[in-house]
Amino acid sequence: MGLLSKPIKNLDDLFVHTLQDIYYAENQIAKSLPKMIGKATDPQLKQGFETHLEETKNQIKRLEQVFQMHGQPVKGVTCAAMDGILEEASDILGVANDDDVKDAAIISAAQAVEHYEITRYGTLLAWAKQLGMDDAAQLLEETLVEEENTDEILSELAEEAINPAAAA
Ligand SMILES: [Fe+2]
Ligand SMILES: [Fe+2]
Repeated sequence: MGLLSKPIKNLDDLFVHTLQDIYYAENQIAKSLPKMIGKATDPQLKQGFETHLEETKNQIKRLEQVFQMHGQPVKGVTCAAMDGILEEASDILGVANDDDVKDAAIISAAQAVEHYEITRYGTLLAWAKQLGMDDAAQLLEETLVEEENTDEILSELAEEAINPAAAA
């Protein structure tokens, strides 16, 4: 069986499907962030993940609000892309044994997660606007901004501290 549980006939169906996809993905992220916090050694990196875990929990609540605004049950569908990104992350962390190199690997994995989220929220935001769902669009935009900020914070941390340490 494919990943799509029912036929997608219009943009509205596609919006709901993608909402279910990111809802599943966010829940998987909420489960993996504590593992990343446990494995990170740089205190700023750990702190960054702690902050993003709290944001992620709030993002899940926002998605639940969007489902409700749309009169849809709160539901996830398997996101093979996020499962793959997280699986790759755990594979690489399993073999990286220098602390600084491991931190660099954790950041690269986390940025793959953030970029996936940015593409999904960017699309959902555009579709919500197109469908005239202004309240939903506002919530999706709040989350999009958090994902973009997280990505930027990770880039700065990598370039200023983690990558130089990993290369030393
Ligand atoms: Fe998120
Ligand atoms: Fe995120």
